[in-house]
This record gives sequence, C-alpha cells and structure tokens, in this order.
Amino acid sequence: MLKTDFLVIGSGIAGLSFALLVSQHFRDKSVLIITKSTKSESNTKYAQGGIATVLNKRTDSFDQHIADTLKAGDGLCDPEVVKMVVEEGPKRLRKLIDWGVQFDQNPDGKFNLVLEGGHSQHRILHHKDITGYEIERALLSTVKKKDNIQIIENHFAIDFLTEHQVEKRKLSSGEKSINCFGAYALDINNDQVITIGAKVTMLATGGSGQVYRNTTNPQIATGDGVAMAYRAKVKISEVELIQFHPTSLFQEPKESPSFLISEAVRGFGAILRDRRGNRFMHKYDSREELASRDIVTRAIDTELKASGDQYVYLDCTHLDYGDFMCHFPNITEKCSSLGIDVRKDYIPVVPAAHYICGGINIDKNGLTSIKQLYTCGECSRTGLHGANRLASNSLLEALVYSYNSYVAIKESFQYIPETPPLPEWDDSGTQINREEILITHDRQQVSDIMSDYVGIVRSNERLARAANRLDNIYQENKKFFKKTRLTRSLCELQNLITMAYLITRFSIERMENKGSFFNKDLT
Ligand code: FAD
Ligand code: SIN
Repeated sequence: MLKTDFLVIGSGIAGLSFALLVSQHFRDKSVLIITKSTKSESNTKYAQGGIATVLNKRTDSFDQHIADTLKAGDGLCDPEVVKMVVEEGPKRLRKLIDWGVQFDQNPDGKFNLVLEGGHSQHRILHHKDITGYEIERALLSTVKKKDNIQIIENHFAIDFLTEHQVEKRKLSSGEKSINCFGAYALDINNDQVITIGAKVTMLATGGSGQVYRNTTNPQIATGDGVAMAYRAKVKISEVELIQFHPTSLFQEPKESPSFLISEAVRGFGAILRDRRGNRFMHKYDSREELASRDIVTRAIDTELKASGDQYVYLDCTHLDYGDFMCHFPNITEKCSSLGIDVRKDYIPVVPAAHYICGGINIDKNGLTSIKQLYTCGECSRTGLHGANRLASNSLLEALVYSYNSYVAIKESFQYIPETPPLPEWDDSGTQINREEILITHDRQQVSDIMSDYVGIVRSNERLARAANRLDNIYQENKKFFKKTRLTRSLCELQNLITMAYLITRFSIERMENKGSFFNKDLT
C-alpha cells in the first residue's frame, strides 16, 4: 500500500508538466508518478514536428491560429476551448522553456517557426525533428531535481479506486458523486498488484495507436487510461475520431512503431507523387500537400486503392540538402540507414494510425465526471481538436490543460476529504497463464480487425463485421480475464479489446462524416 497526495499516471508531457506544477506549489505534499515502462517512453518522446503557438504577432495572430484549428476540426471543435487554448499557448510555452526545453532559433535569436499542414502561418516551434525527445529530456531532468516527486517505472495502472471497491457496490453510468481515491497498479517486475491511495489522481496515459496494425505510436499506447475510465463509468466521447498520419515510412519487413516522416517535411516543400512519379494532391485540395491531415490521408488512400500500390512517394530531391539535413537530421539518418538518399531517392510513405481526437470528457479544469480524477493529454477529450487535430496542437493542449488542472486544484485541495481505508487487490481464484500465445494471438486479431474494417475508410458492413468479431473475442476473454493472474500483456489485451469495441461502437453510432471520420455509406 502506498499513499500520496498526488498520483500521476503517465510520464509524457501531460503527466510530467502537471507533476512539476503541483510540486512547485505544494512543496510539503508528495507527488508520485507511476509509468508502465521506462520513464521517457511515451508518445511525447517520438514527437517530431513541434508545438504550434502564436509568437510572432507581426505575421501571425490568435485569430488565425483559432481559424486554422476550427477549419481542421470540421465543425466539431468547441470554439471557446479553441480560443482559450490558443490564447494561453504563448504563456505555457514560456514555462516549458523555463523548464529547460530548447527550441531551434534563427541567427537573429528569434525562434525558428515552421509550417505544417492546415496552418496558414509559420508558427511551429521545434527542436530539429526530435522535439518530443528534447521535451522528455528537459522535463525529466527538472523532475529529478524536485524532492517531493517520486517516479516509479514499470508500474502499470490497472483500475481506479472508487466507491465500487471501497463500498463494494456496483456503480451506474451517470451516477453523481463518485470519488476517486487512487488506483491499483501492477508492479511489472514481479506481477504483484499494489494499492495506491491518493487525494488527487491525474490520468495522463496518452494514446491508443496500438489498436491498429500500422501506427506511429510506441508499444505503450494501448488506450489504458480510456479503458480504465470506461470501466469506472467515466464519460467518454468521440473515440471514433482517429487521426491517420499521411506519411509514415513504408518498410518491409514492417517496423512497430512505424517511423514518422514529419508533416514539417511537407511544410518544408516536399511533394507527394504516385509510384509513376505523378503528383496527385491537386485533385483533392487547393492547398495540395499542405491540406489538413484527414484530406491528405484520404487522398493517399484513394490513390493506393485505385492503383493497387502499397505506398506513394515523398519527393525531397528538389530541396536544399544542407538546410534539410540541419532541420531533419533524424529523418535523414533513418532514410540513409535504409539506403534512401533523400537527395536523389523518393521516400516511400503510407498512412498510419497516429492520434485519437476523442477520449475522456473533461471540463476546462481537466476534471472528469468523477471527483478528484483529472486527465490531460491525449487520453482526454477537451473539444480542441474536433474531428481532426491540427498538426502540433497536441503538445500544446497537454501543456494548457495540465496548467488548468493545477490552477483548479490549487483552489480546491484544502476541501478534499481524507482517503478512506482502501481494500487490497483481490486475486483469489486466479491462476498463472501458461499460454502467452492466447494473448499475443488475440492482440494481433484485434489490430487486424481494426485495420481491415475500422480504418481510414469505413462502411456499415465493415463496422458490423468488426463489431461481431470483436464481440466474439470479448466473450472468449471474459472468463479468461477473471481466472488469470494479471500481467502487463493481459492488462493491455483487455484494454485494447475495450478500445476497439468503443471505437467501433461509436463509429456505428456516428451518422455524419466529419474530419478524420469517413464512412462511405454516409456520403
Ligand atoms: P504520452 O506522451 O503518450 O505519455 C503517456 C504516458 O503514460 C507514458 O509514460 C506511458 O508509459 C504511460 N502509461 C500509459 N498507460 C499506462 C498505464 N496503464 N499505467 C502507467 N503508465 C501508463 N503532437 C504535436 O503536438 N506535435 C508533434 O510534433 C507531434 N509529433 C508526433 C509524432 C509521433 C511519432 C507521435 C506518435 C505523436 C506525435 N504527436 C505530436 C502527438 C503527441 O506526441 C502526443 O499526443 C502527446 O505527446 C501525448 O502526450 P501525453 O502526455 O498525453 O501521452
Ligand atoms: C509531425 O511531425 O508530422 C507530427 C505532428 C503532429 O502529430 O502534430
């Protein structure tokens, strides 16, 4: 049994920035971060392009960033949230810089602001093409200096502690006054479950790209937070709005995660071509390669389905190689390691699952429908992204909402009651699984079903088949979960099945095509 004032689940940008803010204000309170892998492993670490914010008021304005976000979101953004996040952006960026994050600068000392798809202005701050790596480096090094923050790696959050466990009663959806008292976590080193009591729980578990076969998200992105929230009857929405990035590197044999060729490469002037070398984006949008992601992704998907090819090309051969190398050293090196010389060879690319626009519903303070349970970052649904996240708005959202949650908690912390006595995890009647193949096989089946039937283009028939097949897998595993001792792989399978079910169910319920969501029977 562990006890802490603040339990933070996840060590990406959302969790770490929240932990730093509360640790600085509540100096006599304890902050415990648990994370399921090593501390830097997260979607954040792989972020390439950067963070969008309005810093140059001569060429850019809040109004333009707001308009671009709303346009990409295709009518499903919450305009008040968009305004709040965009206007708060520059202050949050300054804080990130105070924490030690270094962004590339021009020779005149001003930040080097670049362009990405869907943006009408150069407004992306970046650290070469490894912005996320730099963010994790700086935040973890600042966290290390804080006496009241402890990080424990290889601890996997399983379920929240609520009245369901404490009073041993069934909760119903929409029930008022459910409280969160912390969480159970699996110590992956020895497969033992520990109980963590906390006054405030911040869920920052990131994305769920691993529900698909081809994704830019690392292995940790299995939708754990959303699945936990769903089990605890927290309100969830818009998880059917999955963003596929247009340009992940096509490789044979496939690599997981798929290596990303940043949108900033198209912002730099790279051109898409089909396998015969012809440009095609003009057929789909007047902004061509710089249209928003949903449009570029569907255009590539349409071209691939028509031609039967496995990939299209990204052509960088006309770009200044010196400048390209300087901005994209990581991408250049990766291509070169595969024998692709970007000066003369085209880069083979294909869309890949990248980001979940929906998630756990939160208010402007990051509060969920359960008391003392906050979320921020990719696992949350704030209303910023609508049906299609504008490039580089995700890291920004995580920063703004971790701050908003901190401000709200500053006001309310003194009124939070003491945590009640908490029951230990009950694993009586369970046995160690001797057949890991049952788990790996089902995990693969889930991602195959999702990729084949709930991908970039959906249809009523495909969704019905997915729902049916997922239901079979769910029914088969229901008993298996009850009788089997927990391991990381078992917990992840359970969460992936839940995510797949939710994405499919919400897709069936959506009656209008918007942004990244496309069901061909609705057109
Ligand atoms: P993450 O950074 O994913 O962190 C989640 C943390 O939770 C991890 O530490 C993970 O191990 C932990 N965790 C998960 N489940 C559990 C559990 N059950 N128990 C304990 N710990 C758990 N966005 C931009 O704005 N700009 C970009 O340039 C950009 N580039 C991207 C490039 C790539 C390749 C990818 C994959 C994403 C990119 N994104 C970008 C999106 C952005 O990186 C993410 O949305 C953002 O980093 C999410 O931050 P987060 O803190 O919410 O989650
Ligand atoms: C990229 O660099 O293309 C990713 C940017 C993002 O996901 O916002």
